[in-house]
Amino acid sequence: MVIPFFKQEFTQEMEEAALGSLRNELYVGGESIKKFEEEFAEFIGTKYAISVSSGNSALQLSLLALNISEKSKVVTSTNSFIASANAIRMVNAHPILADINPHDGNINIKNTKEDVNAIIPVHIYGNPCDFESIKEFSEIQKIPIIEDACQAHGAIYKGKKVGSISDVGCFSFYPTKNMTVGGDGGMITTNNEEIANGVKALRDNGRKSKTEFDRLGFTMRLNTVSAAIGRIQLKHLNEKNARRQEIASLYRKKLNQDCILPENKDGKSVYHQIVVHHEKRDKIREELTNNEIGSAIHYVKPIHLESIYLKYQYHLPNSEKFSKEIMSLPSYPSLTDDEVYIISECINKIIN
Ligand SMILES: Cc1ncc(COP(=O)(O)O)c(C=O)c1O
Repeated sequence: MVIPFFKQEFTQEMEEAALGSLRNELYVGGESIKKFEEEFAEFIGTKYAISVSSGNSALQLSLLALNISEKSKVVTSTNSFIASANAIRMVNAHPILADINPHDGNINIKNTKEDVNAIIPVHIYGNPCDFESIKEFSEIQKIPIIEDACQAHGAIYKGKKVGSISDVGCFSFYPTKNMTVGGDGGMITTNNEEIANGVKALRDNGRKSKTEFDRLGFTMRLNTVSAAIGRIQLKHLNEKNARRQEIASLYRKKLNQDCILPENKDGKSVYHQIVVHHEKRDKIREELTNNEIGSAIHYVKPIHLESIYLKYQYHLPNSEKFSKEIMSLPSYPSLTDDEVYIISECINKIIN
């Protein structure tokens, strides 16, 4: 590809941090873990941040810390990476899948009439979801909210970072995300001490103290070397998010305004993905491929149409139509203005 969809970044600063950590720290539970957690908590604006092995682990551990069990129902968006729903099933709870707003792909909770025990709203593509409706739903049902902020490091809703506006926030550091740890990793953010202590024990085999274990648990910790790399990535996150926002504005200028999904009016997106929707989507992608420009679809199928979810027999028409019309454009910070123009021209050729 002349312009790939995604570019993995490796800098000298990351290399030095990784080598420094491997030379000087404990591989598990080293000083970089504590520092990364403190810095991440400060960045998000929560009392606690607990590092874990992935975004999926963050979701599972948060559900378990909130006592979600095989008797529970948990609602999430069908337009998400499958982990949002898999985490619910992995703790043996029942997944309820909600349809989306066709304008931004975010969860529309207003049509969910069932009683549930928790809600996992997803800030999809880095764009905060409509949190007022989520809060109202959780208040009426008296249930906790676990934000799936796996795509939204640094996104803001009504002046606050997502991941700090509910009971728990879950983040992923998978390499394509706005920040990584040089591999898989995740973080849980919360202001609630009990939840923080719960997930700390659960990530570490149910450990109560150095020698005591008083509950079942996993090995779902983050490695020290990953935390060392994560600290470097976090340091540069604001500038990288700003570049993603600049790239989104450039696309908006060059493409038909209505093509690109809008930001939440009360929020500020960090554009994990820049998503275009158009009925000629497949033709546009063909033209891009012919010009050696990468693109992707998030997601080819809404979760309820994945084979392991068909048994729940959901029909969620907005997300089904949406998945046929959307495509994600290159959005990484090192993409140049000229590359955005080239991509836009290629798309305009098909649209006009
Ligand atoms: C919305 C969403 N939720 C959950 C996850 C799971 O994160 P991970 O891949 O780190 O397990 C991801 C990322 O891949 C995601 O995009």
